[in-house]
Amino acid sequence: MQCPARLRLVVPLVCSTLFLAGSLPAAAAEWIDPEKETVEQRDARMAWWREAKFGLFIHWGVYAVPAGTYHGEQIKGIGEWIMLRGKIPVAEYKAYAQEFNPVMYDPEAWVRLAKAAGMKYIVITSKHHDGFALYDSKVSDWDVVDATPYGKDLLRPLEQACKKHGIKLGFYYSQAQDWTHPGGAKASRKEGEFWDEAQKGDFDHYLKSIAYPQVEEILGQYDIDVLWWDTPVWMTKERADLLRPLLKLKPGLITNNRLGGDYKGDMSTPEQKIPATGLDYDWESCMTMNDTWGYKSYDNNWKSTETLVRNLIDIASKGGNFLLNIGPTAQGEIPAPSIERLEAVGKWMAVNGESIHGSSASPFRKLPWGRCTQKDGKLYLHVFEWPAGGGLVVPGLRNSIKSARLLADGTRLDCVRGGGDWVIQLPATMPDPLATVIAVEIDGAVAIDHQYLSNAADGGIALEIKTADIEQPSYGEKMQVGRADGQEYIGNWKERDASLSWEFKNVRSGTYKIVAELRLANNPSGKELMFDLQLDGGEKLGKNVAGLPVGQWSDVEFGTVELSEGVHTLLAKRRTVGPALDARRIRLVPQL
Ligand code: GLC
Repeated sequence: MQCPARLRLVVPLVCSTLFLAGSLPAAAAEWIDPEKETVEQRDARMAWWREAKFGLFIHWGVYAVPAGTYHGEQIKGIGEWIMLRGKIPVAEYKAYAQEFNPVMYDPEAWVRLAKAAGMKYIVITSKHHDGFALYDSKVSDWDVVDATPYGKDLLRPLEQACKKHGIKLGFYYSQAQDWTHPGGAKASRKEGEFWDEAQKGDFDHYLKSIAYPQVEEILGQYDIDVLWWDTPVWMTKERADLLRPLLKLKPGLITNNRLGGDYKGDMSTPEQKIPATGLDYDWESCMTMNDTWGYKSYDNNWKSTETLVRNLIDIASKGGNFLLNIGPTAQGEIPAPSIERLEAVGKWMAVNGESIHGSSASPFRKLPWGRCTQKDGKLYLHVFEWPAGGGLVVPGLRNSIKSARLLADGTRLDCVRGGGDWVIQLPATMPDPLATVIAVEIDGAVAIDHQYLSNAADGGIALEIKTADIEQPSYGEKMQVGRADGQEYIGNWKERDASLSWEFKNVRSGTYKIVAELRLANNPSGKELMFDLQLDGGEKLGKNVAGLPVGQWSDVEFGTVELSEGVHTLLAKRRTVGPALDARRIRLVPQL
């Protein structure tokens, strides 16, 4: 329901003015600015979230009506972006709301499904980039109560169901991109770019008259635990500082790193990807089950349950949270393939959840056969590749093993010392092909003699694909690991946010030449194609590889470096998106 226009402008401006004078309700008193809190205060505030490890993302709105098709054409990309991708005029897009009638919506069932999947929190889009609110906003009639035949708040019943089942609730809110309210930011980075005169307006006025009061509404009227900002387009620090004080309305609230104004928030949010290693502060990988966040009727590229379970394990083994998405239909139904996968993941979590919930990152650098999490003096070994012969090598573990058991049924396993490693004798067949978990009780605090890549007999260091930490891109084509002439390589490297990285130990200080074995698939334009290597986070050693002979391996020299004894890291990335590159290995060649 929308308050009268004359008041509409005054109320938020009054709010923001009054607020700026510090007139927020009493709750503000307990609020501690995350930028100023102590480690203990932050740990207390983040505790439930860090324990949860696994949550459900819900992208739901009017975009589920076109469901990826506009004027008979299938619109590429993520479904909730159809208005921008299809350059759909505001009035035409708003007409879809007449078909948004989620009579099948069953928030109780949704919460039970998430809980049974092992999820402990839900984040739902309260307002996405199309500006449509899933609750009754007082500053706009572009919401589910005023603009759809359904006519009821969708968020309150979900909030109630979450409370009933002990599930934490978060709201996603698109604070800058708004393709229907005049002045909302567009996906472009150029101020004022839009595709319909109806979108024309002042961005700062939009922030004060829509974004500010709506964030005040969702924080003031709902009992939520997470606020998930998104796409901080044009969000300068000054603009972020208009919205950020609203957090005072909800002491203890957790927010992400997407408000803008260079605010880190409480967690980093790698999207559609899993970082190659852990990150330096709390983080949450959000991913779709197919290729779209918002419902598309024809996106059936569903990830397997194995992929979803192993993504959850991989993320937990690196200390992160996994926010896994569903996109319900305009009728309020969760697509059947999503339900099947959540139920299957739930079956695995019912048996193995103790190895995920409350766990912390692996003490090992890399494990060739799987991942590891740890909790309460136990190591949880998540085996993906069952060792031929049944001997599972646990590298460099200095502790004594008090016991090793299959987590699923408690079967005790024999363990023997082998040099600096332990070898755990596994049954002949892998009990759970998704991932079999071994619970290992050790004595004392975990201590590992890390097994590093190191110098070969000739003094050189060969960084191979099989020992690389591979970070796939968020969107676009994934890199593929392949084998040719008995050598592993990574192919189809097109995106700039993909990377390879290694950690290695140099045992002989000196000068080393860096040589990368690269192959160009094609480069019709001959455009510059910069490839960068970065040692220990230092200056980038960049090389234009556009001129490489197409289709054959070349040794590309990136110069020489002085390498001290000890542990180093090397990061390899493309500087620009472009034609596919293949990489086979990177060599550090001692210069005698
Ligand atoms: C991107 C998209 C947005 C989606 C979000 C999820 O920012 O713009 O549609 O909600 O990713 O992380």
